[in-house]
Amino acid sequence: MATPKSEWPGFGDVPEDAELALSRSESQELARWVWQDGESRDGERLSVHYYANSLHYGTAVFEGIRCYPTERGPALVRPRDHIDRMLSSARLYGMRVPYGADELVRAAIEITRRNGVDHAYLRPIAWFGYGPIDLKPKQVCPVQVLIAVRRLGTYLGEGALRNGIKVLTSSWRRLHHTMLPVMAKASGHYANSVLAAHEALDRGYDDALLLNADGTVSGVTGGNVFFVRAGRLHTNDESSSIVPGITRDCILTLAHAHDIEVVIRGFTREELLRADEVFLTGTAAEVTPVRELDGVEFPTGKRTFGALFQRAYLRAVTGKNPDFVDWLTPVT
Ligand SMILES: Cc1ncc(COP(=O)(O)O)c(C=O)c1O
Repeated sequence: MATPKSEWPGFGDVPEDAELALSRSESQELARWVWQDGESRDGERLSVHYYANSLHYGTAVFEGIRCYPTERGPALVRPRDHIDRMLSSARLYGMRVPYGADELVRAAIEITRRNGVDHAYLRPIAWFGYGPIDLKPKQVCPVQVLIAVRRLGTYLGEGALRNGIKVLTSSWRRLHHTMLPVMAKASGHYANSVLAAHEALDRGYDDALLLNADGTVSGVTGGNVFFVRAGRLHTNDESSSIVPGITRDCILTLAHAHDIEVVIRGFTREELLRADEVFLTGTAAEVTPVRELDGVEFPTGKRTFGALFQRAYLRAVTGKNPDFVDWLTPVT
């Protein structure tokens, strides 16, 4: 049986960090200033046209970027990667965003600073604005962009990070990459996630797992899935119709840095049910252990890979690991 090369349990050089376990606010209060179409504006006075084409046809493209407090002040996690992904989502929808990546990253930094937040979540979003009834908005509708900021400590609650969540396999299948460009974060794709999340909620679960039409696992409603089996870390890739997460990439980088063997391939629900551990990753969800999938329980807590990755990830994004400071863009 393969085991991680570093001493178990613990990555050896990833110290326990009491601070990471401190309670973070669960408030999602909106910050006052929003960057829209080149200017910082008071969010109370913003309006989006009720006949914005994207509102009707689900073609807005968006991102979620985290801001964490660090010793050197608040910092954004991999903002350039998020903005690049948003611009590539926009391109797939024929949307010409009238700002470049550098300008949007600068705007994200400035609006975060102006709002004076530390634990926060930024939502850059681009959409086809007002125009006629038309399914070719790229010809006729202006492209608008905003970056909103809201406070965000934990997303699924402190309990979720520590104790894990209960996940239901949804009866809805994940949209396939031959139907829509699912690697793009476009608002319409999330109708699939909302249906699955509602189903989970109605059955008393915290989140839903979406399978592909062939029965392999895609992901959860807003995140990627990892599992551990015999000391190896497993996850799938874009051939499983996932959004290849930036957090997923951080976890793969951390695994590599700690000599943990990684297997990237499609896998089934059955394999997941037989896993030693399961955890989820995403900008909002961070690294969240799964404590139950469809009634099957998994270990959570300090002596798990999930907890170690969670700690290593949270240390990195709060500037406590000099090896990964290049993930961070200070806002001050
Ligand atoms: C469907 C889906 N998969 C995966 C992810 C994870 O992506 P990231 O880690 O870049 O936030 C997200 C979150 O944005 C998502 O919505």
